[in-house]
Amino acid sequence: MASQLYDSFIADYYDESPVVSKRLEDVAFYRHAARDFGDPILELGCGTGRITMTLAEDGKRITGLDLSERMLERAVTKRAALRVEARERVHLVQGDMARFDLGETFRLVIIPFRPFQHLLEVRQQTDCLDCVQKHLAPGGRLILDVFQTDAERMHDPVHMREMLVTEYKTDDGRQVRVTERVAAFHRAEQRNDVEMIFSIRHPDGRQEKLVFAWTLRYFFRYEIEHLLARCGFRVTALYGNFDRSTLADSSPEMIYVAEAS
Ligand SMILES: C[S@@+](CC[C@H](N)C(=O)[O-])C[C@H]1O[C@@H](n2cnc3c(N)ncnc32)[C@H](O)[C@@H]1O
Repeated sequence: MASQLYDSFIADYYDESPVVSKRLEDVAFYRHAARDFGDPILELGCGTGRITMTLAEDGKRITGLDLSERMLERAVTKRAALRVEARERVHLVQGDMARFDLGETFRLVIIPFRPFQHLLEVRQQTDCLDCVQKHLAPGGRLILDVFQTDAERMHDPVHMREMLVTEYKTDDGRQVRVTERVAAFHRAEQRNDVEMIFSIRHPDGRQEKLVFAWTLRYFFRYEIEHLLARCGFRVTALYGNFDRSTLADSSPEMIYVAEAS
């Protein structure tokens, strides 16, 4: 379960990793979307509040929902550091994005940076989209981003070798080297078991190896379109990246903007 996944060391390493801290294009994209579609906003899988806090600082009322207590603890700390007006616009909730009832509706629901790819079963995916439907205000939008699947990453053994993702030093002096590998391919289930390996050298010289092992679900373009249609959505825009470019063979992302049909 994802809650156990992120209720681990990963919550402490998440924000400082350049993979996250240098991920700025999606933040700009969601700020733009919030200006277009308005608030209140519901963010599913909000994690440590990377996007949540920025939208609150932009003046948007936002509810962040996440399964992981430890990720949410980080978000609570970040909220406490906001200016008081922004702080009051952020509401954080622990819950499962495949089963929630917040008793209110939103102009915009967003699912940034892969939480939907933690929903391994079709039932969980449709449950999540059904919950989104119930929480959308009339004329409201859902924005869902997943990566565009690279066929080689579904089977090529080269991806089973550890590859360097990033190296960085934390504020408190830990030297961190992150590598990644696919531990197993499950093509029939459209899943990869992935390991992110954190090799850490502490300031006192102590070495530590921590492994974030998880299973990701990959999707194809029409599969998401069919899922959305099945759950009563109509796609109003589909982008291949956060610059709003059209989806093409080489696009890294599949970003769906949808409304109730
Ligand atoms: C890669 S992080 C993304 C966090 C944040 N959206 C961001 O952009 O930085 C994935 C998040 O999805 C959350 N998550 C995974 N499955 C979930 C579920 N079923 N319900 C709610 N949150 C979930 C995890 O706890 C984690 O915080």
